[in-house]
Amino acid sequence: MSPKQFKSIKGTHDILPEISWKWRQLEYFLHDFMSHYGYREIRTPVFEETELFSRSVGEDTDIVSKEMYSWTDQGGVNLTLKPEVTAPVVRSFIQHNLSGVNPNTKVYYWDALFRRDRPQKGRWRQFHQFGVESFGSAFPEQDGEVILMAYQFFKKLGLTEFTLKLNSIGYSECRNSYRTALTEYLKPYFSDLSETSQKRFQLNPLRILDTKVPHEKEILNDAPNIVNYLSVEDVTHFEEVQALLKTNNIPFELDPQMVRGLDYYTRTTFEITSNSLGAQNALCGGGRYDHLVEKLGGKPMPAVGFAAGIERILLALEHIQTGWKPLSTNVYIICLDEESRSAGFTIAEELREKGISTETDLLRRSLRSQMREANRTGVKLAVIIGEKELQSQKVQVKDLHKGEQSEIKRESLIDHIVHLNL
Ligand code: HAM
Repeated sequence: MSPKQFKSIKGTHDILPEISWKWRQLEYFLHDFMSHYGYREIRTPVFEETELFSRSVGEDTDIVSKEMYSWTDQGGVNLTLKPEVTAPVVRSFIQHNLSGVNPNTKVYYWDALFRRDRPQKGRWRQFHQFGVESFGSAFPEQDGEVILMAYQFFKKLGLTEFTLKLNSIGYSECRNSYRTALTEYLKPYFSDLSETSQKRFQLNPLRILDTKVPHEKEILNDAPNIVNYLSVEDVTHFEEVQALLKTNNIPFELDPQMVRGLDYYTRTTFEITSNSLGAQNALCGGGRYDHLVEKLGGKPMPAVGFAAGIERILLALEHIQTGWKPLSTNVYIICLDEESRSAGFTIAEELREKGISTETDLLRRSLRSQMREANRTGVKLAVIIGEKELQSQKVQVKDLHKGEQSEIKRESLIDHIVHLNL
């Protein structure tokens, strides 16, 4: 019996060489973009104490109640693979007293996350996000900058089909009165609600607003509007955020039914969706979370952030021309016999030392298949070495893009190629 072959775990995926270069391009783009806004990168561990997430994201959320990969380690500590990055960043912010270094700490990340949700297009059990967290300002400029960054990121990437949706859910006092109003409104429809919504009715009724079930959406058409439950200060803050976006030509839609699936938000929440994605259409989501730092043991500290799904961004980019190209090597050394293989091996390394990316055949293939391989990889130049070339101390240099071939002295080969500025 042949040994078992292993497959990647359901909901996880390999990033193969055919696609990994796009990931790298996107990552370069991200680092460059963030440097323009003065955000600096932060990296946190893959796992944290489980309680960090239950206390921040919320016990009754889908993420904490059913999607986390959690276990108890040999020391009896309850640990969880991070399902999101805001809580770990806040933990790190408090632990290292980052606000002592900079009262407006602005960080970004690119990370792998884990949620045991039902896999489908654009939804994975291990997925990747980049995101930003900005600490220290309770003013609308902080919301404005973070939302503007999310919008500009997608615009500068070249995406066109996306919509920014904005809402304010106020502070918890007004959310409590809204929660009461919403449950009062939904009570007569309770038996018409799906099982999921009936559960949410008990635990977290605001999450019912997130339903995708058509007849529930109809029921919600006349539901009370959260905006009417906001305090005067919340409304003023929200209006100032909107004014900032308008002044800077950032189009948005108000969506009073947009609730986020995490409990830590206060006041502004937002999402950017794309029609090209299918059911999982959220490219990014975020908002203000003014009470989380305190809730996790830090000093009271206002904060705003967002995170975007990398897999979904790459799906959306399939519909547009990015102008990105995979990196290919510049030179392929083709060797026709044993002696030339040894010479070619050395030439390849001499070229690499001059900064010229070079490959050579390691499979001892025929001239034809080495040439086919050179063309397949898209190199610009092939250097051909055989017995004749070794005797005459000259090699053939073929420009594969132009189809021109010339004979170059071995001693001047490296300089010749360097001067071609490939
Ligand atoms: P979130 O809405 O849970 O927010 O996730 C943000 C983004 O991550 C989503 O809009 C989506 O693009 C992507 N995403 C989420 N789950 C999956 C999945 N299973 N597969 C693929 N992509 C996924 C947060 O995580 C918050 N921490 C955002 C935040 C940062 N709020 C304030 N700061």
